[in-house]
Amino acid sequence: MSKHTIPHIAKQNGHLVLMVEDKPFILLAGEVHNSDSSSPAYMEHIWEIADHLGMNTLLLPVTWEMIEPEEGTFDFSVPQALIDQSRERGMSIVFLWFGSWKNAGCMYAPAWIKQDLRRFPRAQIVKGKNKAGRQVSPTIPVKMPYTTLSYLGTETMQADAKAFAAFMGFLKDYDEERQTVVAVQVENETGLLGAAKEVSDEADALFTSEVPVDFVAYMRAHSDSMTDEIRAAVLGGRECGNWREVFGETADELFSAYHVAKYVNTVAAAGKAVYPLPMTANCWLDKGSEPGSYPTGGPVSKVHEAWDFCAPSIDVYCPDIYVPQFKEVCDEYTRRGGALFIPECATHSYAAPRLLYTVGHFHAMCYSPFGFDDIGHPFSAQQGFLFGMDVSDPALKTPQSFEEYAAIGHILREMMPMLAQAYGTNCLQAVSAETDPVTPHPSGNPFMAIPPMMDFGAFRVSAHFQGPMNPRGDGALLCLKISDAECWLVGNACSISLSSGDPDRPNLDLLSVEEGSFENGAWRPGRRLNGDETAQMNMANPSVWHMKFFAYK
Ligand code: DGJ
Repeated sequence: MSKHTIPHIAKQNGHLVLMVEDKPFILLAGEVHNSDSSSPAYMEHIWEIADHLGMNTLLLPVTWEMIEPEEGTFDFSVPQALIDQSRERGMSIVFLWFGSWKNAGCMYAPAWIKQDLRRFPRAQIVKGKNKAGRQVSPTIPVKMPYTTLSYLGTETMQADAKAFAAFMGFLKDYDEERQTVVAVQVENETGLLGAAKEVSDEADALFTSEVPVDFVAYMRAHSDSMTDEIRAAVLGGRECGNWREVFGETADELFSAYHVAKYVNTVAAAGKAVYPLPMTANCWLDKGSEPGSYPTGGPVSKVHEAWDFCAPSIDVYCPDIYVPQFKEVCDEYTRRGGALFIPECATHSYAAPRLLYTVGHFHAMCYSPFGFDDIGHPFSAQQGFLFGMDVSDPALKTPQSFEEYAAIGHILREMMPMLAQAYGTNCLQAVSAETDPVTPHPSGNPFMAIPPMMDFGAFRVSAHFQGPMNPRGDGALLCLKISDAECWLVGNACSISLSSGDPDRPNLDLLSVEEGSFENGAWRPGRRLNGDETAQMNMANPSVWHMKFFAYK
């Protein structure tokens, strides 16, 4: 038995943090391409890249088809080899359970599940059809063939739960002592495409039956945090009745959410009963579009209250963020006090600034670019589509520089214990060019515009992301306050100014500014900056500075 409690989620300073070996831990992670972790041999160079990028954790698929190729026969040799590789490198793992769902499809279900449509029924988006065309986009008049397992398939759910419990049993036996695996994602991007709800006879019968009264009562009692659309439907509908009567226009989506979340919960609970690691559910975002055009029933933010009721074994809902509206999505997923856990995000040139920003501003539990081994490479057509290359911001069209991500990643990995200790306090803050615009001065004078600023009470740190010294305009700056007279700054592509926040001591002088690096957790000072370098405090490249200063009257 390990001397530590198993990885778990706890509150620190009122903020949810992941605890590993009884200490707060930040997953400075990367998710591998879907097929990579099926081959430990292939993974060798992926671990190397992750290490070069300063990552401390990998998000790795483990698939139902691989671990249970025949019903009741399990093979955990691949996840075991991945755990061994991870241990050799002192890294952690979050396994992604590709079970009944993967991107709203069922391609990772074992052959014995796929072939037995009687025991394991498919979802019907067209009555009577096991596979049917779905329109991929409102603007593209082409239908793609689509099939997935039904969320009403009780035997499928039980089989998935059994397999997942067996997997968690393997993790408990093989890893409870060492605790390499720190969390598990249950399924991947759940929900139904092509229709807002299933339309089989069984689904129709359930939809026209009474909504479970405990669910209605829960929804009505939790309307405060809901989006306007769901709140209006919940409060405007009947207190009892069928789904349409109770939930009006939102009934189809809530019906799907209810059944998908209950299904996922059954799987998660079976796993937790064996080995209760933190469990997450990731989400293909709705992007403001119509139900059916995104996986409907999955944990999009507007149905979080329904998921809370149906899936108490899921600890965190996680957005897969490829859209340009990065901060808006992070705000949405944290609006109810949830932790920010980003299992997938883009590898364009905001990848590194967003890493700094999510750690410093959101005190994120996880930040993880998807297919991170692509960092620094030109985008593939699929990435171009995913990352929204059609938008006007050039940073979204530019691949992240490998060297810059690696430099920031290494600094954060070394500082991780310090940063994690500050989670939940305002001693850790960050601003970025993408998320914190300059505030124009009321006079309209551009030289008097107010730059983004972090307020630490006794002192303030302002970041200048635009201007002749930083023409790229995609910088970010994180500040960790140590005391009223000392801080660490981690930044890139920005200049900095410090001021006093104390009205009784409004003047501030620098005492020392050191640039340097951390090695094995110890600070190795490099140049002591002064003169020109502190007159214009510019971090043109990824840097970490240790600053001391004092305020006076
Ligand atoms: C989201 C999925 O969750 C990932 O597994 C992967 O398919 C990416 N999309 C994009 O390729």
